[in-house]
Amino acid sequence: MAFERVCAASEVQVDTPKRVVVGEWPIAVVRDSAGNLFAIGDRCTHGDISLSEGFVEGCELECWAHGSRFSLTTGWPQNLPAFEPVPVFEIKLENDDILIDPTPIYKEKE
Ligand code: FES
Repeated sequence: MAFERVCAASEVQVDTPKRVVVGEWPIAVVRDSAGNLFAIGDRCTHGDISLSEGFVEGCELECWAHGSRFSLTTGWPQNLPAFEPVPVFEIKLENDDILIDPTPIYKEKE
């Protein structure tokens, strides 16, 4: 798959997840305080909850419903009740645009 533009860089504020949809995938886009960009599947694997409505804690995104924290780099939950990973996606900044490759990547458990 090719990278697709999802939004302007200015639309993604530090530690404030933004939901985008690329192809069939809802994706949570996160910029951490160091300026790194992450893209992970925007559906908690414990319930039908949008992770982009949750909270960024360092390099993790916490589901507001029951508190599972998903690694922004691997997609794996770091605590129960979720125990299955969400996919991660390649993301890049090009000029002032954020681009995502909507090919899901399921990483090995860290
Ligand atoms: S729905 Fe996300 S932890 Fe329960």
